[in-house]
Amino acid sequence: MMKQQLSHFNRLQLLNAPTALEKLERLSIWAGRDLYVKRDDVTPLALGGNKLRKLEYLAADALAQGADTLITAGAIQSNHVRQTAALAARLGLGCVALLENPIATDDINYLRNGNRLLLDLFDAKVELVDNLDNADQQLQALADSLSASGKKPYRVPIGGSNALGALGYVRAGFELAEQIQQTGLQFAAVVLASGSAGTHSGLALALAEALPQLPVIGVTVSRAEEAQAPKVQGLAERTAALLGVPLPSAFKVELWDEYFGPRYGEPNAGTLSAIKLVANHEGLLLDPVYTGKAMAGLLDGIGRQRFKNGPIIFLHTGGAPALFAYPDVFSS
Ligand SMILES: Cc1ncc(COP(=O)(O)O)c(C=O)c1O
Repeated sequence: MMKQQLSHFNRLQLLNAPTALEKLERLSIWAGRDLYVKRDDVTPLALGGNKLRKLEYLAADALAQGADTLITAGAIQSNHVRQTAALAARLGLGCVALLENPIATDDINYLRNGNRLLLDLFDAKVELVDNLDNADQQLQALADSLSASGKKPYRVPIGGSNALGALGYVRAGFELAEQIQQTGLQFAAVVLASGSAGTHSGLALALAEALPQLPVIGVTVSRAEEAQAPKVQGLAERTAALLGVPLPSAFKVELWDEYFGPRYGEPNAGTLSAIKLVANHEGLLLDPVYTGKAMAGLLDGIGRQRFKNGPIIFLHTGGAPALFAYPDVFSS
């Protein structure tokens, strides 16, 4: 039902094969638990990541509305802004991004390297702002001023996380459910980074329908559970409403919020050791803002026996370009 409803929505077909589900052989031995990774870090645009799945729906809508410019917002090192700017370039659209400096750093690598460097290559226009506390209004004001100068802007929300964008992860959830069924294994959980919530809401919605016994655990990267839970729940409800389906009875928001400190964009010791461990056991790159924190949660969860029995899937949502913005955190 949900899957059929999904097929009625326009999608730019940029990602036409499932991303791989792979076993992490050496990390599994280290952890004493079979670990698998779903490789959304290698989606096929501009160094990959989860946002392409959302943008397939959002950019299709932008083109249908005759837009000539994608506008969005995020941190200076936002992976979302990088992928939006890359897609705008690929589609021959302009891109304007409002960027904030959430860790108030003057480190030149954070200000210029990593994702930020790539925005210049894609010819995105950047406006630095003090904060994005009222992002929707800030984007609306930007849209108004572009419209006044004759442009046709399309607003992509922070993280691509509205109901239309979350459809990308509903689709990913059905894709993953099929891959899981092909393995014949009983997985204990899927673990992912939960930020602006579109990835978490969309994936959990599809899996609640396709594999209702499988827990989806979001490791928060920016806020405590009491603030994140209504975001995930509300977006899942709006996404189900957009699809015209009821929220599946198995749908549940599960969050672990012990791993994001000291704050969004700032790694802690557990983040850094998870990144190093996965790099030196698997040659696989995580990032200091999202996936390093999520993997730290996953590994700690194994140690604290927070999972039921069975192998665990880590949804790798990308982010490695931000490593180059944080070169000093790894020197001890
Ligand atoms: C690498 C990476 N992982 C995870 C996320 C979180 O996804 P969401 O914002 O959909 O919660 C993001 C969002 O920017 C990201 O860039």
